[in-house]
Amino acid sequence: MESKNQPGIYFAPLQESTDFVYRRAHALHFGGIDKYFSPYLLVQKDGGIKKSHLRDTLPENCTGYTLVPQIMAGNSRDFLFLAKHLSELGYEEINWNLGCPYPMVTGKGMGSGLLPQPGRIREILDQSLPQLSCRISVKLRAGLISNDEIQQVIPVLNDYPVSEVIFHPRIAKQLYNGSPDWELFAKVSGLIKHPLVYNGDIFSPEDFSRAQVKFKTVSAWMIGRGMLKNPFLATELKGVQLPGREERIAVLERFHGEIFGSYASLLSGQSHLITRMTKFWEYFCFLFPDPHKAFKRVKKSVSQSKYEMAVSENFLQLRSGE
Ligand SMILES: Cc1cc2nc3c(=O)[nH]c(=O)nc-3n(C[C@H](O)[C@H](O)[C@H](O)COP(=O)(O)O)c2cc1C
Repeated sequence: MESKNQPGIYFAPLQESTDFVYRRAHALHFGGIDKYFSPYLLVQKDGGIKKSHLRDTLPENCTGYTLVPQIMAGNSRDFLFLAKHLSELGYEEINWNLGCPYPMVTGKGMGSGLLPQPGRIREILDQSLPQLSCRISVKLRAGLISNDEIQQVIPVLNDYPVSEVIFHPRIAKQLYNGSPDWELFAKVSGLIKHPLVYNGDIFSPEDFSRAQVKFKTVSAWMIGRGMLKNPFLATELKGVQLPGREERIAVLERFHGEIFGSYASLLSGQSHLITRMTKFWEYFCFLFPDPHKAFKRVKKSVSQSKYEMAVSENFLQLRSGE
């Protein structure tokens, strides 16, 4: 994905943040992203897929950018069910989540819960890949409990035609604490035979330059929280000249307006709308001079009109730089 001059940048999947509303608005107002990844789809207890997950990956809701839907599966039956569903919708690449660190998922032998079981990963790939015509990429962590686990997983991945491996060099137990293990990433990059994508803690052009110097052979860079905090980041990293300050603020305002408008028509009731927008502001607030204050102002609004006032106040402060 990395062209001669421009690095390939992927927008990481983030549950409750990068849904179809957010992705569409981001692609429209900022761009710079080569692939967006959806938060994971899962087979429900009743054997079906949640309505909200179906809506999130419905092709007509995901136009104007390249989407790679992500699946969560701990056995080949679920894997095939989800991958076939998405493949039939026309998706040419599907990403398998082997990284989710949360016990609700790992306890069921999914996400990074599969990393200590390389035999099981092999079984799932063995039984699933021959039945699929789409590309399968994998997103994984260093391990569930220990970063020794990745060493057993790499040979398994190397045995299968996986299209890309996205590696976040932390173990599940760390969640997002501590630093990504850059030494481990370098080691993995020498062992894996598939295109390797770096993921973890890129928040600024400086972070990116440091990582680029260290890892010369990565095929692309996946960024999550850094993109939510600064939606211009991908274009910045690609060396595209950003508009002037006034225009940047106007873009942010239109972006916010678009997301707010979409949720206002999708969600019923002011409290749902404000809860959803408060989630958006958890990261968006970092663009404002006093992030904590900007976030608090939004969080305490009890009605749509109060919310709109809080947002106007935030943008007023952003314009005046206070
Ligand atoms: C709130 C939140 C939700 C996430 N949801 C997903 C998800 O659905 N699938 C996934 O593979 N990773 C998920 N992640 C992990 C991110 O995709 C990414 O790997 C992680 O944030 C590290 O990248 P970053 O440092 O650039 O943010 C989530 C992370 C956070 C903080």
